[in-house]
Amino acid sequence: MHNRTNRRLTTTLATLTGVVCATIAMAASAKDPSRGSETFEKRCTGCHTLDTMKVGPPLRAVYGRNAGKDRQFPYSDAMKKAAVKWDEDPAERANIIAYLRQLSGK
Ligand code: HEC
Repeated sequence: MHNRTNRRLTTTLATLTGVVCATIAMAASAKDPSRGSETFEKRCTGCHTLDTMKVGPPLRAVYGRNAGKDRQFPYSDAMKKAAVKWDEDPAERANIIAYLRQLSGK
């Protein structure tokens, strides 16, 4: 069967979703928290809440923390290994994008 391939694909997609959405949202919300909160409601709450697990990990404590560190959430291996801290450092975002680019083979 194709289980292995499917799992890898799912993992990759989850990682891309998580990293891309986080990168975009944190860039956009850095200057205006109330607009950020609106965007969060619209674009993130389908998969995240602040305090409980959903499709994605809870996000209240994520700022300033390293990626993949919620104690309960079953992160993808890529997210667990990513040496990324979720904060405002643009170099970190550039690194994530460089990583995603490498994964994409482009
Ligand atoms: C389609 C579902 C989905 C949506 C929508 C989504 N996320 Fe995620 N997010 C995930 C998943 C799944 C992960 C975990 C990825 C992994 O383990 O590789 C994740 C991971 C994250 C992480 C890393 C958390 C950690 O503990 O390291 C952040 C930060 C994040 N998302 C922020 C956001 C923000 C902000 C938005 C809205 C712009 C958003 N996400 C929208 C599914 C989603």
